[in-house]
Amino acid sequence: MSLSGRLFAALYDRIGPCADAAGVGELRAQLLAQARGRVLELGAGTGLNLAHYGPAVTSLVLTEPEEPMARRLERHLAESGREAAVVRSAAEALPFPDGSFDTVVATLVLCTVADVERTLAEAARVLVPGGRLLVLEHVRSEDPRTARWQDRLARPWGVVGHGCRPNQDTGALLRASALEIERLEPTRLPGAPITRPGIVAVAVAP
Ligand SMILES: C[S@@+](CC[C@H](N)C(=O)[O-])C[C@H]1O[C@@H](n2cnc3c(N)ncnc32)[C@H](O)[C@@H]1O
Repeated sequence: MSLSGRLFAALYDRIGPCADAAGVGELRAQLLAQARGRVLELGAGTGLNLAHYGPAVTSLVLTEPEEPMARRLERHLAESGREAAVVRSAAEALPFPDGSFDTVVATLVLCTVADVERTLAEAARVLVPGGRLLVLEHVRSEDPRTARWQDRLARPWGVVGHGCRPNQDTGALLRASALEIERLEPTRLPGAPITRPGIVAVAVAP
């Protein structure tokens, strides 16, 4: 278990609820109101989405590859009183058969996975045809000046954010995937300018 992984999990457990109180929680709630049926969450972190899954969710699987995060996730899951399975797995190689889920959730995780294309292909694979991928993400700025700063600061930010890439055009990667875009809109994200703007997206499995 790496020291940086432990530090990041502890830090995220502290700052995540503050970011949610500043507005991210409302974005989670709006997006996750669309989660239904058998739901898979990718890189669930400390479990900040748990409070937002409604009665339309019939089962919930939370994946998380980082052991310090997974331990905190299990603790918060127990506190929530919700039924869910925690699976230690990277999003690029999901241990589930094709067509296992009606909804896949990826909030603030596509910025960090090692291989976004592979992750989106896996999401498409484990979804039933017509199933939905729900995405909330911070992305590369369309303003060239801001994007240049995101490029300059990408390396130190990646250290602080345990692999987070502030300059990634996740919208373009979603459009290039096998999923069909139902909705892809900019959204206001609170926090550091380097992690703005945000997008919310709904993409449908073929
Ligand atoms: C910024 S946190 C976001 C956590 C959570 N999704 C949320 O909305 O609060 C990024 C998460 O991605 C996880 N992660 C990193 N690499 C991953 C991978 N290859 N597959 C899945 N999750 C990964 C990290 O362990 C961490 O929990």
